[in-house]
Amino acid sequence: MDYSIESLPLDKLETDCIVLGIYENQSLSPSAALIDLLTQGLITQLIERGDILGKNAETLLINYIPDNTIKRILLVGFGNQKETTAKQYRKALTAAITILKASKINSADCALIDIDVQKSDIQWKTRQIIEVFNDAIYQFQTTKSEKGTKPCINSIKINTAKEFKEQAELGLRHGIAIAQGVDLTKLLSDLPGNICTPTYLAEQATNIASKADKMTVEILEESDMEALGMGSFLSVSRGSRQAAKLIILNYQGGKKADKPIVLVGKGLTFDAGGISLKPGIGMDEMKYDMCGGATVLGTLQAAAKMNLDINIVGIIPSSENMPDGDANKPGDVVTSMSGLTIEILNTDAEGRLILCDALTYAKKFDPEVVIDLATLTGACLVALGRVPSGILGNDDALCDDLITASKTACDSLWRLPLWEEYYEQLKSNFADLANIGGRDAGTITAACFLSRFTEGYRWAHLDIAGTAWRSGGINKGATGRPVPLLSQYLIDRANG
Ligand code: BES
Ligand code: MN
Ligand code: ZN
Repeated sequence: MDYSIESLPLDKLETDCIVLGIYENQSLSPSAALIDLLTQGLITQLIERGDILGKNAETLLINYIPDNTIKRILLVGFGNQKETTAKQYRKALTAAITILKASKINSADCALIDIDVQKSDIQWKTRQIIEVFNDAIYQFQTTKSEKGTKPCINSIKINTAKEFKEQAELGLRHGIAIAQGVDLTKLLSDLPGNICTPTYLAEQATNIASKADKMTVEILEESDMEALGMGSFLSVSRGSRQAAKLIILNYQGGKKADKPIVLVGKGLTFDAGGISLKPGIGMDEMKYDMCGGATVLGTLQAAAKMNLDINIVGIIPSSENMPDGDANKPGDVVTSMSGLTIEILNTDAEGRLILCDALTYAKKFDPEVVIDLATLTGACLVALGRVPSGILGNDDALCDDLITASKTACDSLWRLPLWEEYYEQLKSNFADLANIGGRDAGTITAACFLSRFTEGYRWAHLDIAGTAWRSGGINKGATGRPVPLLSQYLIDRANG
């Protein structure tokens, strides 16, 4: 899809379709009011007839406009004008793109920048239009022999008054970079485990780095990890025929001396559970256990395209977790890179076993902060469902910054406590700590485990088990979350 900013006056417009906003009290947005004038009150007549009330996400496609260079009008409802929230704005945008997709329209002019949205500016609205529209037109096709019919819509011009053009252009640049990052994350996540292996992820990382001026890549092989003493990570990959990789991306957008923001993403390209084998139903969805890693790749690509003036390091421990004669067994004790020994009471709690060594490795970069992303616990789904990602951490300011970014990006987070009482659950008779903490508070004890490897730096953990993909049925597919949230966090750091 091609996105651009256009600041032509509406009476000069030639377009297949113009998208306009109306509100619940049947009042029109400034652009809608102008088009109403230019069409001899067409919109007002349809409102008076009761064809559209302006409720949030309501739509009306006027398919034919006599004697006009504007061929169609798509009206979209934004609800109460004084109270239109970010969520309502996005909901209306989703409704608009649904109609554009379903129709035979090739290109549209979107005049929805003039909608009043609480606590938002032109730049934000431009970005949201691109992010929401692009999310809706994503189609996974790689492994289908009959490529699905693509939507006709291939060009969106975002209409804005001349004086706002500069702000809109910045929103456009960021919006496109983030949307492409989301696309990449979704594609890698949706690919099956037999294609998207640790080696494949390493190749993709190399590819991303080669296309960005300020990014370099390093891939550590199992022998390198052996030399570093990553006994915990390697114990997981031992049960797999696929070679594990530790992928490291380094984006140098800032000054040499600036401490980097380090992003660590769980890259389990398939999690069968190992000897503690998972049940068969829904096991295919464990191809998504690399969504954290894919998020790191999507976010770094976006940061590079936005040319942010900060330093960022991405670390992706990547492996499979399979049952095998050489796999971890319940009761095994392994030694992590930090020196802490771990009793593996359940081989399905493998994410923390690969992440702990990656988190120890992160120290080497003298990080400003470390943020890890992981589809870590089914318990997170039980606690929070599929709405927010869970966040836990050892630094209130970092967690607050991430939560602030999540609100701006409409990619929500909810914080869970990391209190000392919970650490009791990880005690082991045979090692420094156990890899599971029992049934209670599974998301929290997983984070407690990780926190034992993050001493000495500011750290936050995002459990994205409920948010990285949609489960089951026809809707199954990756969401690309939390790329928008992390991109926003990085934008905020670059500005301040
Ligand atoms: N990748 C899973 C977590 C997961 C499960 C994410 C379902 C999304 C949906 C992780 O490796 C895992 O298996 N965790 C176990 C931990 C348990 C053994 C303590 C879980 O959540 O059941
Ligand atoms: Mn598991
Ligand atoms: Zn897993």
